Amino acid sequence: MKGIVLAGGLGTRLNPLTKVTNKHLLPVYNRPMIYYPIQTLVDAGITEILIVTGGRNAGDFLQLLGNGKAFGLKHLDYTYQEGEGGIAAALSLAEYFVDEDLVCVILGDNLYENSIRESASDFVRRGHGAKIHLKRVENPQRFGVPIVDGDRIVKIEEKPTQPKSEYAVTGLYMYDSTVFDIIKTLNPSSRGELEITDVNNAYIERNEMTYAVVEGWWSDAGTFDSLLRSNILVANQSWNHSEEIPKDAMHAFASLLRYQ
Ligand code: G1P
Repeated sequence: MKGIVLAGGLGTRLNPLTKVTNKHLLPVYNRPMIYYPIQTLVDAGITEILIVTGGRNAGDFLQLLGNGKAFGLKHLDYTYQEGEGGIAAALSLAEYFVDEDLVCVILGDNLYENSIRESASDFVRRGHGAKIHLKRVENPQRFGVPIVDGDRIVKIEEKPTQPKSEYAVTGLYMYDSTVFDIIKTLNPSSRGELEITDVNNAYIERNEMTYAVVEGWWSDAGTFDSLLRSNILVANQSWNHSEEIPKDAMHAFASLLRYQ
């Protein structure tokens, strides 16, 4: 299975942090944001990875990531997205790269505590259709939200004002290569984008959608609060692995708790 990291977009919700750089290059604790989704793919055993980026700072990705040595890779692929077309439009640029293979797509601002290796292996064994990854959240209206009937997903609604479940569709998707035919049939949504939710609904209509529930924490980092949350989750994880919690970190954490 091949891997795609989607790291384009303007990151307008993080202005002015994203005025002179790309969202996915911003720090999350001690690494640039995009390190985390790449590591998630690599930990799942995926070694052929394409980074889709765009905008003025695309060259910075090459300088930062090179051939992927920091992840034990020999090579990374890159492609450039012109303008703003949405997640599905960014994915369509990967058609040549995926060819007839399966593909695991991860959004460049999505962080997962646990390995996705088992889920990826399950999907490779199945060999066709699509798979999404759900997580129970407190604010589903900010995400794609599944309508569930028993253990079946009937439909996904993108950022519904009245969510019909407590789950978010997280930014990790697995598809067979028919995903590119589906994208060609899509029309732009009201926000002018080709929505990944429409891709997923097409698989649901064909009865080809499966899902897993994410274990451990999951966070996106596309808003000020979720970026802060991601920093805290990663820092906390890193302190849990160290002998002693750094004093500065203790102070920062204590004041955050007061802030809450
Ligand atoms: C996108 C997807 C949404 C998904 C979310 C996960 O939202 O459209 O379905 O739940 O990523 O991070 P966006 O980040 O474009 O608001």
